[in-house]
Amino acid sequence: MLKQQMIEENKIKGGHIIDCSKVSMRFGKIMALDEVDLRVEYGENYGLLGPNGAGKTTLIRILCGLLKPTSGTAIVLGRKMPDRRNNASIGYMTQMDALYNDLTIRENVRFFASIYGLRGHERERRIDEILEVTALSDRQHSVVSTISGGMRKRASIACALVHRPRLLFLDEPTVGVDPKLRCDLWKYFHELNSEGVTLVVSTHVMDEAEHCNRLAFIREGKKLIEGTPAELKAFTSCENLESAFMKFSEAER
Ligand SMILES: Nc1ncnc2c1ncn2[C@@H]1O[C@H](COP(=O)(O)OP(=O)(O)OP(=O)(O)O)[C@@H](O)[C@H]1O
Ligand SMILES: [Mg+2]
Repeated sequence: MLKQQMIEENKIKGGHIIDCSKVSMRFGKIMALDEVDLRVEYGENYGLLGPNGAGKTTLIRILCGLLKPTSGTAIVLGRKMPDRRNNASIGYMTQMDALYNDLTIRENVRFFASIYGLRGHERERRIDEILEVTALSDRQHSVVSTISGGMRKRASIACALVHRPRLLFLDEPTVGVDPKLRCDLWKYFHELNSEGVTLVVSTHVMDEAEHCNRLAFIREGKKLIEGTPAELKAFTSCENLESAFMKFSEAER
C-alpha cells in the first residue's frame, strides 16, 4: 500500500498504529517494563534504543502479541494486544533467529508463510519473490545449519516478510552482518518504509539509529526520552548519537 494511503488511513482512524499506555511487564522480581507510554504513527521508522536488559525485546514481544503485559494496554492496529487477528499484518524478526536448522532456507520460509495462512501457488510465488529480494534464490535449498551468519539474517528477514506485513518489528537486525550487507538491508528497509510499511527497530548501532525518524531511549524498563535523532543530540548537547546514548545511560534517575 502506498505511504500516502497509509497516512490517509491513519487520519480516518484518527489513531496510531501503536498506542501503548502504562504498559508494565514483570518477570518475578524483575520489572522488565514499567508503565511505558508509546505512540507510533502509521508509516514511521521508529527506533528503540537502550542498554542491554532495558526492556526493548520485551516491549516488541508485547506489541507482536507474544506476551501479555502484566498491566497497561498495548493497542496495535486498533486492537488491544494480544489479538490473533493482527498476525497477518505483523512481521517480527527476532533478536535470536528463529530458524529450523534441519530445514532448508526455502522450507523455513514456507513454514512461516503457512503459519500466516498463505497456500498453494500464491505461497510459492511469494516465497520466490522474497528469496529474490534477499538474494537467497541460489542457496534456497541449502540446509540452514550449513549457511553463513549473514545468510541466516537474510533468511530470517525472508521469514518475517513473506506475508507482506504492514508493521515490521526488527530486533537488532544487523548484528553480525558485514558493512555491505548492512547497507543493502537498510536500503531494503527504507524501500519497505517508503511503500508504507511501519518499522519498529531496536538497535545498538548508532549510525543505524540515525536512519529512524524518531527514537525512544529506554532504560530499566522506563522510557526516558523520545524524539528525532537531532532532538536527542540537541537535548544532550552531543554531536553524535553515540555520545547521547552514553549520557542517557549514565543519567541520574
Ligand atoms: N521470559 C523472561 N523471564 C524472565 N526474565 C525475562 C524474560 N524476558 C526478559 N526478561 C528480563 O527482562 C529484562 C529486559 O529484557 P529484554 O530482553 O527486554 O532487554 P533488551 O532491552 O532487549 O536487552 P538487549 O539489548 O540485551 O537485547 C532483563 O532483565 C531480562 O533478563
Ligand atoms: Mg533485546
